[in-house]
Amino acid sequence: MTKRILITSALPYANGPIHLGHLVEYTQTDIWARYQRLRGHDCVYVCADDAHGTPIMLRAQSEGITPEALIARMHEEHLRDFIGFGIGFDLYHSTHSPENFEISQEIYRALRSADFINIREIEQAYDAVAGMFLPDRFIRGTCPRCQATDQYGDSCEVCGATYSPTDLINPVSAVSGAVPERRQSEHYFFQLGDFTGFLKQWIHSGTLQEEVAHKLDEWFSIGLADWDISRDEPYFGIPIPDAPGKFFYVWLDALPGYMAATRHWCASHGRDFSDYWGPDASAEIYHFIGKDIIYFHGLFWPAMLKGSGHRLPTGIFAHGHLTVNGAKMSKSRGTSITAGQYLQHLNPEFLRYYIATRLNSHVEDIDLNLEDFLLKGNGDLVGKVVNLASRAAGFIHRFFAGQLAPSLGPDQTFYDSLLTSQEAIGEAYESREYSKAMRDIMALADQINAYVDQNAPWAMAKNPEQREALHRVATVTLNGFRILVTLLSPVIPELARKSLAFLQTELSWSGLSQPLLKHNIQPYSHLLQRMEKSQVDALIQAPTEAPGTHSAAKNPEHTDKTAEKTATAELGTESSSISIEDFSKIDLRIARIVAAEAVEGADKLLHLTLDIGEEKTRSVFAGIKSAYDPASLVGRLTVMVANLAPRKMRFGLSEGMVMAASGPAGGPFLLSPDAGAEPGMRVK
Ligand code: 2FM
Ligand code: ZN
Repeated sequence: MTKRILITSALPYANGPIHLGHLVEYTQTDIWARYQRLRGHDCVYVCADDAHGTPIMLRAQSEGITPEALIARMHEEHLRDFIGFGIGFDLYHSTHSPENFEISQEIYRALRSADFINIREIEQAYDAVAGMFLPDRFIRGTCPRCQATDQYGDSCEVCGATYSPTDLINPVSAVSGAVPERRQSEHYFFQLGDFTGFLKQWIHSGTLQEEVAHKLDEWFSIGLADWDISRDEPYFGIPIPDAPGKFFYVWLDALPGYMAATRHWCASHGRDFSDYWGPDASAEIYHFIGKDIIYFHGLFWPAMLKGSGHRLPTGIFAHGHLTVNGAKMSKSRGTSITAGQYLQHLNPEFLRYYIATRLNSHVEDIDLNLEDFLLKGNGDLVGKVVNLASRAAGFIHRFFAGQLAPSLGPDQTFYDSLLTSQEAIGEAYESREYSKAMRDIMALADQINAYVDQNAPWAMAKNPEQREALHRVATVTLNGFRILVTLLSPVIPELARKSLAFLQTELSWSGLSQPLLKHNIQPYSHLLQRMEKSQVDALIQAPTEAPGTHSAAKNPEHTDKTAEKTATAELGTESSSISIEDFSKIDLRIARIVAAEAVEGADKLLHLTLDIGEEKTRSVFAGIKSAYDPASLVGRLTVMVANLAPRKMRFGLSEGMVMAASGPAGGPFLLSPDAGAEPGMRVK
């Protein structure tokens, strides 16, 4: 039965370039959308730029342009990157669109009439020089707990404390440098708590992955607080109806952005919006998102929809984050790779394929190991798939005038056996178990290659009496190749397109049951160039920022993620001199990291267990998560301050500090001794 399906990916912020981390999601979604189309479903895939908010407004100001001009440029850049990677959106819209103004305001009005909105005064930091209220992330100061300088207004990256900006010591505005004042203003709140009963049940309705539902369960024990949905002018956003000078907080209009894009697409394609979002719509709606925005999609969005009388999505699929060579993407290490940089060096389909080999249906982080990437792309796509075509096509043109054999003869059974896993591969796509689908497809490729090796067509070609057998073997091989490219087509659409053009046939899932026989094919011309190691190396050596783009991958107002900065020993830039005696009070030791793990509930911290040559290991919390994959640290030597008074942190006792360098160019960079040093050695 043909299904009507609407698919979305999260809307990227219009203040930074698309990087490889983003592409995990767009690739995951695009593969799914292409698979659905391949199975004949009526599937539309929409996305948009997330164009509002303080960071975008301030960035435009600093560039001396209007926010509209900035988002127009970013839209063009984003779209160019997405097209480059073969992401086949049916529409790439913007949240700064007439449809979104209408829909966001409509949802708000419905929530207000149903009494889900309350208005109250709150006190906030105000920058009198810039003339604006300051989001927490735009206030910097000294941590009230550990005294680390230059910390964000809501949390300390050094000790992990979270607090309110009023607790910061010596706060300053990151916009103007002024000391923020406290000012009252009226804010609008969405009463999320009113939906507690509904949400508790809904998150376990099968719409979310089980692991995601469990994560969200934690929030109910804390209790769902009112959500502050208003911002005061100046703000680049959508005005709140009947509330002069007030705008929707960017997330309030980002989520309806999915609907706005659908409405725009429907209008330009003669479709009915209510078939998608209407109360009785038959369409299935799926949102693909990253794990960092589960809260918004698993709680706020269903509550907003429910409260405003809308239908709910059918599925919300969260994925993990991307690391490159085991480390978080970092500009200073050259592992923050933008889509544009990648495209300068390499064929996008190698990345799409690699991502597919790493993805499953769970919220697990995936690693782009560049060595493995090179081996897999060349070994699988070129070595196991494309080579079949180049080897077999030569015989068909040399001896059989470009025409395939009229029958597969006794090898029909072999051909049919290749199709026995087709449905299981389809199932794997459907359930987002792409790595399984890729393994199963490559197992078929191995069987076809073994078939070629056993039959040795190159030897047959030398014997005129074996012409018929040669014709059959080459025909089976090319039909096997057709199976492979069809099954792989959601992942490598361009290679599939070229391959099917070479075979002079159409993309068809069900058509595979009929092999191509007595069928003319095109002469073989190159389908896929191997990757060279130098091209992959160039990727990590590439300048990490394209001209005219901004470094912040994430928008500080909307997320808890922070820029990379030193989160261990703060070796300040303005140090006053100390005596040698003072220095000798510090017990610096070589330490071996014997265990490293992420800390539940802390964005920046890793929990390290350190061997410093004493009987007892030390437990240390270090703010280096932004730069290191915990697994990559195990076994490594570093330097620790061993006689720092133990500090009780939210997550446990920290018995010392590891040393890391950082500066404007990046970091943190964990210090390591030269070879030969042993745990416990003193550093003097
Ligand atoms: O986290 C982000 O990058 C947001 N711009 C995602 C928004 S998704 C949707 F709600 F619009
Ligand atoms: Zn602190």
